[in-house]
Amino acid sequence: MVAAAALLTLIAALLFSKGVDTGIYPGIPNPGKGTEWSLPVFTVFAELLGVLVVGATLTSAFLLPGDGPSVSAPGWVLLRRASWLAWGLAITALVLVILTVSDILGVPLGSLGSHEIFSFAFSVAQGQALLIQAGLAIVVAILARAGVSRGLAAVTAIIAMIAILPPAFTGHAAGAGNHQIAVTSLALHVLAATLWIGGLAGLLVVRKTKWLAETAGRYSRLALVCFGMTAISGVANAAVRLGGWSPLWSSRYGALILLKVLALLVVGFFGALHRTRTLPALNAGQPKAFLRLAVGEIVVFGAAIGLAVALSRSPTPVPNDPVGPDPVLELLGFARPGPETVWRMIGDPLPDLFFLTIVVAGIWSYLAGVRRLRKAGHDWPMNRTVCWVLGMLILGGVTSLGVARYAYVLFSVHMVQHMILSMVVPVLLVIGAPVTLALRALKRPADEQVRGARDWLLMIMHSRIVRLLSHPLVALAIYVTSLYGIYFSNTLGTLMRYHLGHEAMLIHFVLAGYLLAWVLIGVDPGRRRIHPAMLSIVHFLAMAAHAFFGFVLLLSTTKIGVDWYTSVHPVWAPSLLSDQRLGAGLAWAFGEIPAAIVLLLLVRQWMRSDEREAARLDRAADRAEATGEEDELARYNAFLAAAAAHDRALKEQGFQ
Ligand code: HEM
Repeated sequence: MVAAAALLTLIAALLFSKGVDTGIYPGIPNPGKGTEWSLPVFTVFAELLGVLVVGATLTSAFLLPGDGPSVSAPGWVLLRRASWLAWGLAITALVLVILTVSDILGVPLGSLGSHEIFSFAFSVAQGQALLIQAGLAIVVAILARAGVSRGLAAVTAIIAMIAILPPAFTGHAAGAGNHQIAVTSLALHVLAATLWIGGLAGLLVVRKTKWLAETAGRYSRLALVCFGMTAISGVANAAVRLGGWSPLWSSRYGALILLKVLALLVVGFFGALHRTRTLPALNAGQPKAFLRLAVGEIVVFGAAIGLAVALSRSPTPVPNDPVGPDPVLELLGFARPGPETVWRMIGDPLPDLFFLTIVVAGIWSYLAGVRRLRKAGHDWPMNRTVCWVLGMLILGGVTSLGVARYAYVLFSVHMVQHMILSMVVPVLLVIGAPVTLALRALKRPADEQVRGARDWLLMIMHSRIVRLLSHPLVALAIYVTSLYGIYFSNTLGTLMRYHLGHEAMLIHFVLAGYLLAWVLIGVDPGRRRIHPAMLSIVHFLAMAAHAFFGFVLLLSTTKIGVDWYTSVHPVWAPSLLSDQRLGAGLAWAFGEIPAAIVLLLLVRQWMRSDEREAARLDRAADRAEATGEEDELARYNAFLAAAAAHDRALKEQGFQ
């Protein structure tokens, strides 16, 4: 039913939007009708399979109660189904490689040779993305059968969520102007829509179990978040492609968008009905209304997927290369900025939807946690809240304001962005103690067999991987190698060239900095108990490595990321080398301030730990005095006295 709705909508939408053009134009290669139609049809299959794989693993690992350390029986059934579906997704992705080659080269399937297919699959971004999707789907297929532990099911579900994303990073979005916004919004859009539809599909599979009501309750909270994310990311993506309001009403692409808005409103309305009517009835033991509405909802979702694929195959009002091939625009996704001014560094934003989503979710959930604690009569230090919110705001600002635009074209500004992301933001976020707040504010689910967010967090904080990462030398190594590794190899240029690479680099800066700051001055649980003296040494090593990095960069005559910076270098900017030296100086100077703050916090921790130790010894002495027991001090003195007596005896016997 869902597949039928998706395919029928796809065909109607493609015919309407001219997304399938079977015309023969002299000199223009044509892949033929076979490819023109089977490519979108197989794309719909891939998206439906992706939805079902994510839905089955998500429901099994996170929505259904478990059975102690294992998933429940219905959860196991879902995992087995997910395994078969994942094999289906892997095969479909490989078929899509062949169809996409035929489509892009304009060569009918029958005339395609294995050479074209292989060279495309391994050297062109779309081919690579589909191969990665197939590979990840195979991993999911194997893991879903590898065991029944809830931890493994959770890992399988997360890999399944990643597996649906690669095509979003390379499709229509990647070639558009403003491709940062287009690519990130499409990835968030596909993820939110897939979780939303997949969760509902998972629910329908477990409809006969006794857990339907409580699982539906948990799904309903996820559905609300996905509704919001699908809407916002859809609007952001549509804005890039439409380039204004009038194409929304005047273009066929715009008409499909309006139909999608309608689909979103319909499923949104169904969601409201669930919350007000069918879920209460379900909790009262009457599942019929819920199931009927859920089936209707999933059919509308199917139609929305058909519309979505038709959209991705339809010509957009804003052509992919609006001003003809402009290499800088294609590289940057935006026109080269004018000479730097303070106003341009702050104004002229380049919104990064990924980081903005993190910032909004980070601030909202943190303040909700503080509010819940306060409501329960518990206190939460204001300085922590201020640091967290400030850290998040700086994260949003440095990745989305004008400075983010200049960081693409000037090494010096990139260095400032790097320093803020790896030294300033992490220190503030670590002082915010988010894990401590979460563990205090998150409620435990009523059903013990359900692993709530709090349980998963505790599990992660006590996991072996966190234990390894919390070793100061490991945290230091990650911090230092990424600094030297990215700049003194050819990595920077490559990372700047691909949107995904650039995002991964910025995320890495924050995480590596956060890990080191947490190990040094964090208050959150999971951290090793290491004497502040040792931590100070680690901190000095990090500062020395940082200073040495700035020094070497300052003296270096080798241009870093030369291919990239040469191709985007603005005429008004200083030469690559002098801009690089400016960057080195800024990196060196910039590092000092947060490093000094960390040092102060370390010294304070040291003093406090000494005070705590002195207080502990005092308490022991008082306790010993009160009970007449020997306290630690007395025991130590007794030990020294015995040792001295022993020495004396040896001397008297002539052994010394
Ligand atoms: C029920 C709600 C929705 C669902 C399930 C949904 C699902 C999807 C999916 C799966 C894709 C990826 C298609 C592909 O690349 O193969 C997509 C793309 C897209 N969606 Fe949605 N979507 C929904 C609502 C919306 C809304 C409300 C908007 C706009 C306001 C929107 C705008 C877009 C745009 C612009 C694309 C990119 C199409 C292209 O590549 O040109 N979507 N959607």
